[in-house]
Amino acid sequence: MIGSVYYADEVIEEVMSRNDIVDIISNYVNLKKKGNTYSACCPFHHEKTPSFHVSREKQMYHCFGCGVGGNVYTFMMEHENFSFPEAVEALAQRAGISLPEQSMTPEAKKQADIRNTIKDMNKLAAGYFHFLLKGEHGNLAMEYLKQRGLSDETINAFGLGYSDKYSDDLYKYLKSKGYQDDQLKESGLVKFDEKYGGSDRFWNRVMFPIVDVNNRVIGFGGRVMGDAKPKYINTQDTPVFDKSRNLYGLNLAKKSKRQGIIFCEGYMDVISMHQAGFDNAVASLGTALTTGQVNLIKRFTNQVYLAYDSDEAGTKAALRALEIMREFEMPARVISLKPYKDPDELIQAEGTEAFEKRIEQAQSGIMFEIHILEQQYHLEDPQERTLFQKEAAKRLALIMEPLERANYVESVAQVYKIDANNLKEMVTQYGVSAMNRVDNRVFRDQQPYVSKEEKKANNLLKAERLLITWLINENRLFDILKNVVEPKDFYEPVYHDIVEALFAQYEAEKKVNPAVILNRYQSKEEHDKVSAIMQQDFDMAISQEEKSKAITDLVKSIKRRSMEHRLEEAKGDLLKTSQLMIEKSKIDKLIIRI
Ligand code: CTP
Ligand code: MN
Repeated sequence: MIGSVYYADEVIEEVMSRNDIVDIISNYVNLKKKGNTYSACCPFHHEKTPSFHVSREKQMYHCFGCGVGGNVYTFMMEHENFSFPEAVEALAQRAGISLPEQSMTPEAKKQADIRNTIKDMNKLAAGYFHFLLKGEHGNLAMEYLKQRGLSDETINAFGLGYSDKYSDDLYKYLKSKGYQDDQLKESGLVKFDEKYGGSDRFWNRVMFPIVDVNNRVIGFGGRVMGDAKPKYINTQDTPVFDKSRNLYGLNLAKKSKRQGIIFCEGYMDVISMHQAGFDNAVASLGTALTTGQVNLIKRFTNQVYLAYDSDEAGTKAALRALEIMREFEMPARVISLKPYKDPDELIQAEGTEAFEKRIEQAQSGIMFEIHILEQQYHLEDPQERTLFQKEAAKRLALIMEPLERANYVESVAQVYKIDANNLKEMVTQYGVSAMNRVDNRVFRDQQPYVSKEEKKANNLLKAERLLITWLINENRLFDILKNVVEPKDFYEPVYHDIVEALFAQYEAEKKVNPAVILNRYQSKEEHDKVSAIMQQDFDMAISQEEKSKAITDLVKSIKRRSMEHRLEEAKGDLLKTSQLMIEKSKIDKLIIRI
């Protein structure tokens, strides 16, 4: 129950009722009205035909393509990377509702506060580091940044700073602002040692505040000003710093007018590129690119450029990044930086125009991969040439779009002097097996063999699901089924809870509000699952008679299953058993009319 942990249920529902889901999602997605629902291409996976549906009536969304779903809170959490309380706060603010602080229990409040406190401390620390850089203590650091070609404007835009050479400088500063040791420890800014007490994680370094998409300081990178090791240290994982779901510079890059997003490896590369006018550059945070990061940029762009270091490690990282881009069907091109090591060096040496040219000349991901592949073979040797051609064909077979694939086949044949028809044939061969892989991915739920028992269990689950869908779509059923089915007849615990909540809502208000029920569930998986059931719509064009028959069948199979279960439990209790037997015999004669 996430709701009650932070805010009272009434507050959560009030905020929800004042933020219409269609309005909220419209801020992010271009919704088209179709009958009672709105639809669009799903913002959570790549697709060309819309399978993302939003219902104003139910105040929920669901994607029939990738299975995500939820209410207005789930949407904000998924789309904005918010925690649940953050989603409540954002939507409350939007609706002009002030949230009552006292609605939280002390323990809950502490939890919710930790993240805010860390962000406050980070903000203070960033301001303090920046202040030090500008003052006398920061002379050397400032000199270092100037020598690396950074202007005052750039230094300010990125909020760069300096951590003093005393190892407890920031610790003392934050203490003076009233923060306690345990809070400081959680922020990752201060380390504690039994003997020596608190000391700063960062000292005598140039400081790079790491800012998330919502402009909050979530962590830091700190660079030595010379050649000492380690060159950089970064904030460890904290409740607000998740390296795999944030990107350096994205807070600025998301506002860029330039086409696409440029990924590079280093903080200095991002800064250098922004200064040279490429304000669409971002970098990962000292780790390899992650799927969470691609997910994050998906809503800002549909074209990625990789400007990774030109050394072997950089090339490897680029190949891995291309794999991830392919998973997301995100078009990617690779910028060559040779003979320079990284974008910063190229820009320092040759300037903006030269970099602009490199962008224009960027190679498509697939051509880059094949180019790297080629270097592993001696093409003069016929055997090795064959091997290379086969590997290249495998790569080309991964291109899903037929026209695009044909075009690449042609280009590769030309560049590597391969007979175009031969190559095409090889690609087709490999293509067949590639298709099978994709099928497996899409239909991974379909088991090749399902036992009779499993099939029966699945059908029962389906019956429970369908009856819930009916209840939501035809509220009269609550009155009709009141003395026929009860929540305890539902075998699957999640369904049992949903039905219980629906009956309670109907009893209290004579209508149901499925979106509210979602707030009981915590995980994304649960939200997807529950909203899939509730968002289902029936083809209401069927006759009353057909409806009655359908519902009667569902109720019968659910009741039968429930009776069997109860009989099992009552084993030995003769009285109870005989009562249940009577009840069970009535099921067969059951007829429900709607
Ligand atoms: N990095 C890190 N820890 C290190 C070295 C590197 O976290 N010990 C991360 C940093 O995010 C760094 C990136 O990897 O920005 C790329 O490293 P590198 O290319 O060595 O640094 P540059 O950003 O190019 O820095 P500089 O130009 O100052 O050498
Ligand atoms: Mn560098």
